[in-house]
Amino acid sequence: MTLRTLIYGARQIVTVTRNNDEKFLCGKDMQAIGIIKSDVVGLSLMIENENIIAIGTDDDIARQFEGIEVDKKIDASGCCILPGFVDAHTHPIWAGDRVHEYAKKLAGATYMEIMREGGGIGFTVEKTKLATDKELLVSLVARLKRMLQAGTTHVECKTGYGLEWSDELRLLKLLEQARSHVSIGISITYCAAHAIPKNRTAEEMTEDIVNKQIKALKKFIDSKEINVNDIDVFCEKGVYDIEQSRRILLAGKEIGLGINFHGDELNYTGSAEMGADIGARAISHLECISDDGIRAMASAKTFAVILPHTGYLLRIEMPPVRRMIDAGVPVALGTDANPNAFSSAMSISMNLACVLCHMSLEEALVAATINSAAALGISDKYGSLEVGKKADLIICRCPSWEHIIYQFGDHTHLILYVLKHGAIV
Ligand code: NIG
Ligand code: FE
Repeated sequence: MTLRTLIYGARQIVTVTRNNDEKFLCGKDMQAIGIIKSDVVGLSLMIENENIIAIGTDDDIARQFEGIEVDKKIDASGCCILPGFVDAHTHPIWAGDRVHEYAKKLAGATYMEIMREGGGIGFTVEKTKLATDKELLVSLVARLKRMLQAGTTHVECKTGYGLEWSDELRLLKLLEQARSHVSIGISITYCAAHAIPKNRTAEEMTEDIVNKQIKALKKFIDSKEINVNDIDVFCEKGVYDIEQSRRILLAGKEIGLGINFHGDELNYTGSAEMGADIGARAISHLECISDDGIRAMASAKTFAVILPHTGYLLRIEMPPVRRMIDAGVPVALGTDANPNAFSSAMSISMNLACVLCHMSLEEALVAATINSAAALGISDKYGSLEVGKKADLIICRCPSWEHIIYQFGDHTHLILYVLKHGAIV
């Protein structure tokens, strides 16, 4: 059965298309976001089942589809249509908020000081273990629904509050289950190497992950019970060092996972150079990246996933995004939503990226759509509005698309509809 949906009357359609064959934009091309605008005639977008099949003026589309049945019409008069946001980095499955640590951080405690005292990820791991499956699933689905309402149509979801295999496996299974409760797209990243459990060393954990966990994980992937896309590690001084990280990431690569990890966040560790060397698709944070690291990522075309929420909250220096873009590193964005940085709004991430990382509005939008999709390896289907691509989009009631970044934190009220695979959600 064919289901056709016509969106009509729009004043702007921001396509975020590329004029080359690459599946992302970098350097100066990040300014070119392909806006179709009209103050005099309305603009239309036609969807067939899950896919975009035409974009043009209302008159052109009416002529092109004359006599063809349309099942649903969405009035977008005066609205702007944008691709749904792709959040390239989140930690959405956990129990036990850390509001008490927020106060400590405001009073000057650092992230690693809190972690060393047993707080931080360790605290969340304990609370997550105590929560029932139902509690974890209900809170996960609520978070994912909130993201969807705020315009995020695809999200990367990491495990990482289990650490030991049986606990991580539980999180993986719950992430899989969440797919049937919410229509947001989900890419799953395995992040058992997120912290060192009590009474274990980083070396023991590395052995455990490389020799046991990844082998066990492969069985679940092969049986198609769980769909895991990427492997992650928190490569940081006092957590997993560069060699341990390399071993874990390569073991993941060996079973077919993409390399997508936390690096050079609180200290320079050489993560960018190492990641580029082993063919990482993406490295997140990079607040402490070196010039060599920038060069290595630019030449390997490894995505820098910038997480401005985290730097803002921890009051640390932002990554050198301008230098990255100028050097040709493809830049993407995420929220890092987790109990430390408790916000999943891509509008805020884009606003902080503009104000604190000196990105332009266009660069921020590219980073939050086509480039974040490419950082997850899905930009052949997602991240831009083009004929043949999935109809994941937002219809916003605002005079021009920039309002979605400009009215940060308040942007949800601008979103009239979110469409996932062509259906209003
Ligand atoms: O990306 N750096 C490691 N992981 C997260 C924080 C997770 C947490 O504190 O619970 C991050 O910042
Ligand atoms: Fe993170």
